Amino acid sequence: VDKPNVVIVIFGATGDLSKRKLFPSIYRLYQNGKIGEDFAVVGLARRPWTNDIFREKVCESINESESNNQIDLEAFASHFYYQSFDVTDSSSYTHLDGLLNHLEGQYQTDGNRIFYLAMAPEYFGTIANQIEQNGLKESVGWTRLVIEKPFGHDHISAKALNNQIRLAFNEDQIYRIDHYLGKEMVQNIEVIRFANGIFEHLWNNRFISNIQVTSSEKLGVEERARYYDRSGATRDMVQNHMLQMVALLAMEPPIKLTPEEIRSEKVKVLRALRLVEPTEEVENYFVRGQYGPGPLGKGYREEAPELKNSITETYVAGKVMIDNYRWAGVPFYIRTGKKMKEKSIKIVVEFKDIPMNLYYKDEAKRHPNLLVINIQPDEGITLHLNAKKAGIGSIAQPIELSYTNNGVDGINTPEAYEKLIYDCIIGDTTNFTHWDEVAYSWKYVDAVLDAWSKTEPLFPNYAAGSMGPEAADRLLEKDGFHWWPIT
Ligand code: BG6
Repeated sequence: VDKPNVVIVIFGATGDLSKRKLFPSIYRLYQNGKIGEDFAVVGLARRPWTNDIFREKVCESINESESNNQIDLEAFASHFYYQSFDVTDSSSYTHLDGLLNHLEGQYQTDGNRIFYLAMAPEYFGTIANQIEQNGLKESVGWTRLVIEKPFGHDHISAKALNNQIRLAFNEDQIYRIDHYLGKEMVQNIEVIRFANGIFEHLWNNRFISNIQVTSSEKLGVEERARYYDRSGATRDMVQNHMLQMVALLAMEPPIKLTPEEIRSEKVKVLRALRLVEPTEEVENYFVRGQYGPGPLGKGYREEAPELKNSITETYVAGKVMIDNYRWAGVPFYIRTGKKMKEKSIKIVVEFKDIPMNLYYKDEAKRHPNLLVINIQPDEGITLHLNAKKAGIGSIAQPIELSYTNNGVDGINTPEAYEKLIYDCIIGDTTNFTHWDEVAYSWKYVDAVLDAWSKTEPLFPNYAAGSMGPEAADRLLEKDGFHWWPIT
């Protein structure tokens, strides 16, 4: 189907995610001709907005996020409808069903419905069940449920949530969003690996010494103190985005490019993660941090009154071990944090060094081969090699082969959402996380969080605007490695 017909129902339509990501993404799909005229969007939230107010907000959000001319903006916005909604009240749902039936006549969307939950997670279960109980899944077309994170707070709560949702929806109707999986260069990991003999044959513990995955941000907690302080960097970033990137880097080649085959390879990696044992061991594998005042401004505890005594981590670095045949002994170092020096998402694959140095006088200048995958803000790959320095004698110098994608700087994320929303419309689940992946990721981070909960951290331990706590450098130094620069 190239122009699928659908009604998208957004729960939480007055929220930040809708404004910053969802409306602009749907607009781009429209502009790019990925969706035709047969679509409608129904926005739901508590506020008593009218269709007109809603459409105005939609236009505003698009004007803020897009720089080019929006000629067809009004026509686009006319597809948007608003209903004031109480998620716990079944009459809200019957009313919604009426509206959907009406719109399905008007737009010929064949009864295809997407329910997108872009709101507080405590209502995910309730909404899923109300949708089912009030008959909203009984249209003639397909129905799909899109769920934003956080998917639970730990393994137990995630499982309870999943069970609750599964009472109303089948696994293949559930689309759990991890927006990193919509990023162009994250999707490229698989292609770079499996389409290139020169990498894939070396992609194991015989030739790779370690892999480093960084996602650093300059932003702090912004307006999200309430959510973030309950979550922390480990739940916010590691359980989902970081471990998903590890899975893509470490998985075996799928036998086919179907969602089932790819997922099953990713699940195998997540199953092989070596769980961190309690207290003493966690210190050897994980470092947590919280920013204090620094060049980028005030400390985390000063960001909001309720954060005054917070021991929530805004930074985490870890050494992840994968106990399988391919990766035994190869550390995957991950790190992510708020208020760091640069915004950067980057993967560095460090190959083992040659056995003997013939060409470098100065041993310290020797450079192992690196494959760097730049995810953001630059998109591309760089291969670090050694070659002869021009002139007399045989002296080597490090050189770089670079390829840059024509990605649009900085605004990668709306594009990620654009791709994921489209995938959901056409029913491609490849870049959404299956329950099994979510479950194994939670088990892994739960072990770390449990160990941490037994001791009080010494926070703050890094300056806002730095590269994180020093302990994160020692994590690699004791293995004889160091973090490669991210810029
Ligand atoms: C989100 C986290 O999932 O990812 C945020 O909740 C974080 O805290 C964001 O800022 C980072 O995404 P990106 O695409 O900017 O790297």
